[in-house]
Amino acid sequence: MSQPFADPPRHTPRCMLVTGGAGFIGSNFVRLLLRERPGLRLINYDALTYAGNLRSIADLDGHDGYLFVRGDICETERVAALLREQRVDTIVHFAAESHVDRSILAGAEFVRTNVVGTQSLLDAALQVGVERFVQVSTDEVYGSLGPEGRFTEETPLQPNSPYSASKAGADLLCRAAFHTHGFPVVITRCSNNYGPYQFPEKLIPLMIMRALADEALPVYGDGMNVRDWIHVEDHAAAVLAAAERGRPGEVYNIGADNEWPNIEIVRLILRSLGKPESLIRFVKDRPGHDRRYAIDSAKARRELSWAPRISFEEGIARTIAWYREHGDWLSSIITGEYREYYEKNYAHKMQA
Ligand code: NAD
Ligand code: TYD
Repeated sequence: MSQPFADPPRHTPRCMLVTGGAGFIGSNFVRLLLRERPGLRLINYDALTYAGNLRSIADLDGHDGYLFVRGDICETERVAALLREQRVDTIVHFAAESHVDRSILAGAEFVRTNVVGTQSLLDAALQVGVERFVQVSTDEVYGSLGPEGRFTEETPLQPNSPYSASKAGADLLCRAAFHTHGFPVVITRCSNNYGPYQFPEKLIPLMIMRALADEALPVYGDGMNVRDWIHVEDHAAAVLAAAERGRPGEVYNIGADNEWPNIEIVRLILRSLGKPESLIRFVKDRPGHDRRYAIDSAKARRELSWAPRISFEEGIARTIAWYREHGDWLSSIITGEYREYYEKNYAHKMQA
């Protein structure tokens, strides 16, 4: 067993392609790299879908060694040419369709981006050759837990939503690339993230945004579904540790031992903002709603010399403050597409 903090990095990236770096976790990851790995060349490759926003990365423009390229991961030849031209040695793959409710409304885009897109990226990387490929995945591939137990890396994959099924498909293609071609893939599976720049379709930013506007907060079912929350900066640090110290062919679970029933999170947000609980609306449940997620991240802590650093108390206070102070970012995100999605997902739920 390796000693915490004793092992030197096994891989030192010199030029990294980050896919999905204009999204929530990707933009936080890119910011971490520019801060903590000076000298690393970094290409942020993102298609700028509804979830990718140039305003989330505007402060990075002009930074030494940093390049933004707008592009789709499904364009295999274009990605291969970029990898070759830029002499990329490391790929960290965040780009995805990431929201469960959208996958329930329309699953095809999830298969295109998450499954076909991941294979396309693997094909480009296999053509050119890279030293490390990190597949950023989710604990949702393991399915749902009862009241006891936690997901380990040995838990069977039992995805329940089109989103998690498409991520499991991508993980299996990565696993196959390792077994078939000896391709150096490391897979990370993280629990629910929160923090700055998260698109306000996910629980925490949605509830903060609506509470700030004194609008009803739609809580699915009985509000007792449990999620295991980690601050996005702790997740970003774990992904970097996986790129530098992860063993090819291995899976690492990432989490912060921080389980909360949804309703408690919603109440905490209301209390922090000084808003009344009368804003809460229990609405029709999400179909196939996973009851509980909880992650055992002992392997990542042991082998990657990583541990989460941000307590939930501090992280959620910082996050609420961030959304309060970034009304301009939020209003730039609330486009016609967002309103249309909101109407489609919530109108029939509210009638329950
Ligand atoms: P996000 O939806 O905020 O961002 C996704 C990004 O990918 C966007 O910038 C989007 O423009 C880009 N993108 C989408 N399709 C693309 C394509 N075809 N080509 C290139 N770029 C494309 O997602 P997120 O919450 O930051 O999640 C990032 C990754 O982390 C995903 O792979 C997700 O499955 C995984 N993950 C997320 C969480 C979470 O709580 N959010 C937890 C565990 C794992
Ligand atoms: P979400 O942020 O969509 O993440 P995931 O489904 O990937 O875990 O949802 C987190 C939890 O919050 C989940 O149990 C569903 C619930 N939820 C609501 O109750 N109301 C909402 O409007 C949303 C978006 C989520």
